[in-house]
Amino acid sequence: MNTKAFIFDLDGVIVDTAKYHFLAWKKIADSLGFEFTHQNNELLKGVSRVRSLDIILELGKVKAPQEDKNRWLIQKNEDYLSYLVDMDESEILPGVMPILNYLKEKKQLIALGSASKNARPILEKTGTLSYFDAIVDGNDVSNAKPDPEVFLLAAKLLNTKPEDSIVFEDSVAGVQAANIGGMTSVGIGEAATLHEAKYLFKDFTQMDKTFIDNLIK
Ligand code: BG6
Ligand code: MG
Repeated sequence: MNTKAFIFDLDGVIVDTAKYHFLAWKKIADSLGFEFTHQNNELLKGVSRVRSLDIILELGKVKAPQEDKNRWLIQKNEDYLSYLVDMDESEILPGVMPILNYLKEKKQLIALGSASKNARPILEKTGTLSYFDAIVDGNDVSNAKPDPEVFLLAAKLLNTKPEDSIVFEDSVAGVQAANIGGMTSVGIGEAATLHEAKYLFKDFTQMDKTFIDNLIK
């Protein structure tokens, strides 16, 4: 059997943290006096913290000096982290653990490819850290998704070619990054949003072992 690299995004793929990012950004938008919707939030998925703030300020037509931006970035992250204090394995999304365990059983390589700078503590809190053979997060890359840097680095650390790498992603930017990087993109979410993904599942409970077996072949 072949060995492939299975690269997981974190927020919205392994853990249900997208809702906390949304709440923390919404608080910033509320304080600045404009609306921030779930639809707006799709634009931020997979996008770095700094770029996310710029997008939000563009949506609200707010121009602000860097000093204010820095303060909001700190506020957002502190608020986001406050939601994670009691985080444990109950926040792992349905179907993720069976797939991680199956990949381990099949001796496949597993990496994290996330834009978040909070990735490691989240993996620790959810008890998933030891599953990963390589971790690439927002602290390791300078180009945000849809740039493929995060996934290419993960594949490199696993000594695997892009064409032998499979990426699980819930964001448009992340699916595009996987495609641009020459990897197999697997969207986790809605077809309306993730139509660029090569394969699509509503969540991991819909993915069976045969799908993984076919990727490994
Ligand atoms: C991505 C999320 O995984 O990480 C984005 O989808 C988030 O919503 C980005 O902005 C950066 O995360 P953090 O934890 O470094 O602010
Ligand atoms: Mg995500």
